[in-house]
Amino acid sequence: MRTPVRIAVSGAAGQISYSLLFRLIAGDLLGHAQPITLSLLEVPALLGALDGVVMELADCAAPLLHGVSCHSDPVAAFAGADVVFLVGARPRGAGMERRDLLEVNAEIFSVQGRALNESAHRDVKVLVVGNPVNTNALIALSNAPDLPPENFAAMTRLDHNRAVSLLASRTGHNPSDVEGVIVWGNHSTTQFPDIHHARVGGRPVIDWVGRDWYEQTFITTVQNRGAEVIRVRGKSSAASGANAALEHMRDWVLGTPEGCWVSMAVRSDGSYGVEPGLVFSFPVTLCEGTWRIVPNLPLDDFSRARIRASEAELILERDMVRHLMA
Ligand code: NAD
Ligand code: LMR
Repeated sequence: MRTPVRIAVSGAAGQISYSLLFRLIAGDLLGHAQPITLSLLEVPALLGALDGVVMELADCAAPLLHGVSCHSDPVAAFAGADVVFLVGARPRGAGMERRDLLEVNAEIFSVQGRALNESAHRDVKVLVVGNPVNTNALIALSNAPDLPPENFAAMTRLDHNRAVSLLASRTGHNPSDVEGVIVWGNHSTTQFPDIHHARVGGRPVIDWVGRDWYEQTFITTVQNRGAEVIRVRGKSSAASGANAALEHMRDWVLGTPEGCWVSMAVRSDGSYGVEPGLVFSFPVTLCEGTWRIVPNLPLDDFSRARIRASEAELILERDMVRHLMA
């Protein structure tokens, strides 16, 4: 039997985790031959509710689940973890921007960054899902100096999936026919969903949808989709967020198909002129557990201006939390 992979999830009694955990034990992350253990982190007040989630996990009688533990201490929760989903953080409500959460959530990621540094497996893969994701990931990695910064990423996969879905429905194709979409920058309304390199059915997407619809409808629809879900549902995205987290991590561990890229927010190495050190969403390919920013894509002035605007927002966010960065 294979050694179980140790997966830690924070915010385990919350709504995203309520979808994520049951997909993890079904084998949707690592396949149906890979056993896992779950290490669940919650605030002390919700450990009781978390017991209920653990009862439901047990009631699935899932053959892949080889153990569950619950914690309110992050050092204990992350001990030996191979894969970590940092979901635990407050979600925004109607009328808020994600960066309004910085004040309440940022501290969580400095504490958890230090905990990861202390106890996680040295090859751990850490995905930040709690908002505002880019800057929270920056805080976490800067508090984990003994772990490679490449082990941290923030989630823009939901934005990527939203862009793919919208293009598929606009062009009358299946989402699997859409390739080459990029979400650049911050998981916020300054994100830049870019279709200049995207193709559907073998043809450039821009030829299908036209420049006017792209500039006037598509970009703002993707940028504002999270707020629109909150307006309609009354709560922020949960199952689609869990699905995106799972797809992000699965590609990170298992790799992207030859010639395909996905969007992932990672520490900038200066590619495309983005300030080094910021956690910025780029097109990446993944192979053997390692990401690589797709190099040298041509950018027009329209794209460059939007990338710069998102970079400027991330610089502002970083400057707001400098006191939490080690
Ligand atoms: P939720 O309120 O349902 O659950 C969050 C859980 O985190 C709660 O149970 C809470 O007790 C727990 N928590 C808070 N502080 C914690 C800490 N220090 N340690 C451990 N657990 C802690 O929220 P949710 O809907 O599950 O969303 C979680 C986060 O994910 C939010 O910040 C939300 O905005 C974000 N989100 C991001 C994306 C994305 O695309 N990146 C998508 C959806 C949601
Ligand atoms: C999303 O994009 O759905 C999440 O980031 C939740 C939010 O606040 O929009």
